[in-house]
Amino acid sequence: MTLQFSLGPVAPETVDTPCLVVGVYENGVFSSAAARVDTAVQGALKRQVESGDISGKAGSTNLLFAPEGVVARRVLVVGLGGQKSFDGARFQKVCIEAARALGRLPIEAAVSCLTEVDVPGRDAAWRVRIAALAADHAAYRYTATFKPREKSAQPELGALAFAGGDEGKAGLEQAAAIAEGVRFARELANLPPNICNPAYIAAQAQAFAEGQDKVACRVLDHVEMENLGFGSLLAVGRGSANKPKLVVLEYKGGADGDKPYAFVGKGITFDTGGISLKPGAGMEEMKYDMGGAAGVLGAFVATVKMGLPVNLACVVPAVENMPDGDAYRPSDVLTSLSGLTIEVLNTDAEGRLILCDALTYTAQTFQPKVLIDAATLTGACVVALGKHASGLMSKHDDLAAELLAAGEASLDRAWRLPLWDDYQVQLDSGFADVANIGGKNAGAITAGCFLARFTEGQRWAHLDIAGTAWDEGRKGMATGRPVPLLAQWLLDRVSDAGA
Ligand code: BES
Ligand code: MN
Ligand code: ZN
Repeated sequence: MTLQFSLGPVAPETVDTPCLVVGVYENGVFSSAAARVDTAVQGALKRQVESGDISGKAGSTNLLFAPEGVVARRVLVVGLGGQKSFDGARFQKVCIEAARALGRLPIEAAVSCLTEVDVPGRDAAWRVRIAALAADHAAYRYTATFKPREKSAQPELGALAFAGGDEGKAGLEQAAAIAEGVRFARELANLPPNICNPAYIAAQAQAFAEGQDKVACRVLDHVEMENLGFGSLLAVGRGSANKPKLVVLEYKGGADGDKPYAFVGKGITFDTGGISLKPGAGMEEMKYDMGGAAGVLGAFVATVKMGLPVNLACVVPAVENMPDGDAYRPSDVLTSLSGLTIEVLNTDAEGRLILCDALTYTAQTFQPKVLIDAATLTGACVVALGKHASGLMSKHDDLAAELLAAGEASLDRAWRLPLWDDYQVQLDSGFADVANIGGKNAGAITAGCFLARFTEGQRWAHLDIAGTAWDEGRKGMATGRPVPLLAQWLLDRVSDAGA
């Protein structure tokens, strides 16, 4: 079930809802809604703070059931943490914990006053956008590959109303669209690789395009790519029975003839490493190696759903990397679509090999104003930045600044790594124009440097989302990143142009 959002003024004492959500800081400082509830319940809230039952610790939740004096059947009190250190990231955390707590209750609707809590440097539209996205994130359930179950008798949260005035309205509409993109990305990435193979990704893109009048989709199969000269991409796919596809989506929301923005996403539907086989432990996580594809497709969905007045192209090379008697091998020399030859020194550095051809194709086909790729490209990026920030690489300082700012605004953050030419020598080869690996140092950067050789003359940026695309562990799931960042970046382009 997807959550329905609404926005409007809320009188905390009299609002008729199964559950009202209010925030309390540490040390017993009340948000304005909590203060009004406390008055209405004649200090019962304050007494519960004094007794220590309610700590106000960031993300803590306490439920008051049928408190006398307010109309709401329940009041969920959410800890906001220290008031002085309260910031955007904390606001997001608090919203997520509140949504989780609501999800555990047997209720179909709730009203949240958290959107009225002041967040330094952020406006009402921002608060509503983050709160709605956090709630949608928490409400997501993966069900695709379980035995179909009887619908449970327990009611599920289906409607969430936020307190706020009209100034938050744009934020709510954007959030609903972005949430749809995030869900699209998460669902695709969570699916197992025996379902989510290259043809499946292509079919999903086509299915989305069919429902939208400003969207066109075409899919190149391996024969068409062979004729066009995708020698690098096709080499990666040769070991798999699931043949490669190139998915090309176009959205015409802008003026005719206006050059599009372009997103390209790594769509390795499973990465065994190929002949340079990966170790068994943890290999199952490589079903997420199409996280870049899922992310750019999700950002595309969000853009279309927001109806942004831009032209946007989205290109996804969808390929499976398998070992096989016909698989490509270390020391093979490939001729890429650009004409540059590549010496394969490791078949596990396959992402860059499909991306280089996809980037060349996108540049040639669309001459985009800006070209951005997203890829679960290197383990080295996870070592460098952990799971909190995506790695951002670009030779264009202004474009990098735009993307970093969009990351901060959406709390889907990136951190920049250099793409200096100093690193390029690591990719020198004695047998081809470039080698596909750059040795043990600076692995995220040399991967970026490899792509840089195929994007010369383009206003290009690369996002390495190897750490951010999914949460680790047995119950880890796709995060939907970098959909919020990319959607925010396009939103900012539109409002910059309008301003
Ligand atoms: N898909 C992986 C990168 C990856 C690894 C993402 C772990 C997330 C977690 C990529 O195709 C890969 O295997 N990269 C190699 C590159 C190396 C051979 C130069 C890596 O990072 O080890
Ligand atoms: Mn690999
Ligand atoms: Zn990979």
